[in-house]
Amino acid sequence: MIDLFDIRYLRIGTPNLEDAIRFATDIVGLQLVSRVGKAAYFRSDKVEVRGDTRDHTLVYFEGDPKDHTTAFDIRNHDDFDRIGAELDNAGFPVTLGTTEECELRRTKHMMSFKDPSGNHIEIVSRPYHSGKRYFPGRDAGITHFSHIGLRTTNPQRDEAFWCKAMNARVSDWIGDAPLLRVDTAHHSLALFPSAFPGIQHINHQVEDVDDIMRSYYFLKEKGVKIVFGPGRHPLSSAVMLYFEGPDRMVYEYSVGVKHILPADEATYRPRQFPFESESFCMWGSKPDLPEFRADDEGEGAAERRAGLRSVS
Ligand SMILES: [Fe+2]
Repeated sequence: MIDLFDIRYLRIGTPNLEDAIRFATDIVGLQLVSRVGKAAYFRSDKVEVRGDTRDHTLVYFEGDPKDHTTAFDIRNHDDFDRIGAELDNAGFPVTLGTTEECELRRTKHMMSFKDPSGNHIEIVSRPYHSGKRYFPGRDAGITHFSHIGLRTTNPQRDEAFWCKAMNARVSDWIGDAPLLRVDTAHHSLALFPSAFPGIQHINHQVEDVDDIMRSYYFLKEKGVKIVFGPGRHPLSSAVMLYFEGPDRMVYEYSVGVKHILPADEATYRPRQFPFESESFCMWGSKPDLPEFRADDEGEGAAERRAGLRSVS
């Protein structure tokens, strides 16, 4: 069993780094903290909320926009070598990060492997923290990077991987998609069925509902495509807003996500929700996201759901 502590950072390729930097800073409200070669690093954590400030939580690098990596920190840093051996033995070959690769990821140790769907996963040990606080140029009210939607080509198989090889627990299901927690937050990973691997959406938590609505009007004014919300997720109780970023990556702001505290772990029971719009939003907002559209039955719907065709 690999005891993950939390989700740490994402690394995402883009053919147009300058546009991605502008979007991450001026629109999402992240802080650009450094540029190394053809990569840009962004910070997002308020120490009052998380208790610490991760050095960075997102990297955009010049490259293939389908090249996505998700990194996790582990609870006990003494387990690093054992974790590599466990993954290797389980049929997931591990590559240890070189000193240079670790430095680029701002961590003491790193290993990488692919999950059963082919998603690039990195596990870091003793990742760097920042002594300086997060100070964004746009006040979107972000408190921290919180979770991702991760594509899966087989949700049952990948749920078993994350829950048996790792310490993820199912918080709820929506259709076949499991929402998985690794710490107290209702989900750090939501596995959405797709025909190919990759990150499906990136969530940042914001301070309150006013931030959601302020951003809703701000994004509309800036011509950013809103793809879902404002609304409220019945599963996690979070008020949310989804919008489209560079290379059609979907970003989400949310507030009020449910926490399952250690005292409740023994008695918590995951709930099954049907795959329909009301399970994604209890207020009635309809997602313009193929992975969330149960009622998408138009021409090419199956391909859109599988991510093979864009939403028309
Ligand atoms: Fe989300």
